Amino acid sequence: MGGTQDVERPAGGLELIDVHKVYGQGGVAVHALRGVTLRVAPGEMLAVMGPSGSGKSTLMNIIGCLDRPTSGIYRIAGEEVGVKTDDELARLRNRRLGFVFQNYNLLPQLTALQNVELPLVYQGVRPARRREAALRALRAVGLEHRLHHRPAELSGGQQQRVAVARAIVTEPDVILADEPTGSLDSASGAEILAMFQALHRAGRTLVLVTHSEEVALHCERIVRLQDGRVVNDEPVPADRRRRAAPPGGDAA
Ligand SMILES: Nc1ncnc2c1ncn2[C@@H]1O[C@H](COP(=O)(O)OP(=O)(O)OP(=O)(O)O)[C@@H](O)[C@H]1O
Ligand SMILES: [Mg+2]
Repeated sequence: MGGTQDVERPAGGLELIDVHKVYGQGGVAVHALRGVTLRVAPGEMLAVMGPSGSGKSTLMNIIGCLDRPTSGIYRIAGEEVGVKTDDELARLRNRRLGFVFQNYNLLPQLTALQNVELPLVYQGVRPARRREAALRALRAVGLEHRLHHRPAELSGGQQQRVAVARAIVTEPDVILADEPTGSLDSASGAEILAMFQALHRAGRTLVLVTHSEEVALHCERIVRLQDGRVVNDEPVPADRRRRAAPPGGDAA
C-alpha cells in the first residue's frame, strides 16, 4: 500500500542488530542465536528457513516480543524492545503483532468467535465492538458459517483460518507465523498462503518460518539460518515467486 514515505520509521519495520540468545547457563548453556543482524522493511513478506535447531523459533520469539535477546538490539517500528518493561512489551505485542502457530493454539473450550475476540478482550475493547471486529475477521477468512463451532468441531484448515482471524483482529502491523502450513494438507495450506499474500498486499509485514521451499517461494525474500547465524539472505526472483490461488471451492 502506498503509505506516505516521509515517516522515518513506518509501522511494520523490524531491525535486529547482532542479536544473541543463550538459553540456560554454564555447562548447559545453549547458544541458539549467534549474532543475527536482520532488517525487515515495513510491508515486506519474508520467509525464514533452516534446519531443525538452527534458531528459527528462537528468532520468531524475539521478533514477537515473547522473549528478549541475551544481547544485541531489537527494534520494532523504531522502538527498542530491550529497554521496555514486561508490561510495555505485552502492550507492544498486543498492539503491533499477530501470531499464527503450527498447531493453531486455539482455546478448546471457546467457540471460533470467542477465540477471535480474545485479543480484544485483553485490549479492553467493549463487547459490541469486539464482536463486530471478530465477525469481520472471520468473514475475511471465509468462516462466517462456523462462528459457534469449537476447535474440535473444525477441520485443521478451518482451525488455522480461525487462528489467522485471531491474528488479524487487532489489525497488527506485523504478522508472525511459525510453520503455519506444517500441519495442513496442500489445499488448506494454499488457502492460508493466499490469505497471507492478501495481507501482504494490504501492507502488512509478514515473517513466516517454514521447512518447505515451495512455501518459502510465496514470499519476497528468504533468510536462511544455520547454527544460530544467517547464512543466506536473498530475494525470491520474480519468475520463481509463487502465487497461492485464492480459496475457490470451499469444501465447507
Ligand atoms: N527454552 C529453551 N531452553 C533451552 N534451549 C532451547 C530452548 N528453546 C530452544 N532451545 C535450543 O535452542 C536451539 C534453537 O532452537 P529453535 O527452537 O529456535 O530451533 P528451530 O530452528 O525452530 O527448530 P525446528 O525447525 O525444529 O522448530 C536448539 O538447540 C534448541 O534445543
Ligand atoms: Mg521451531
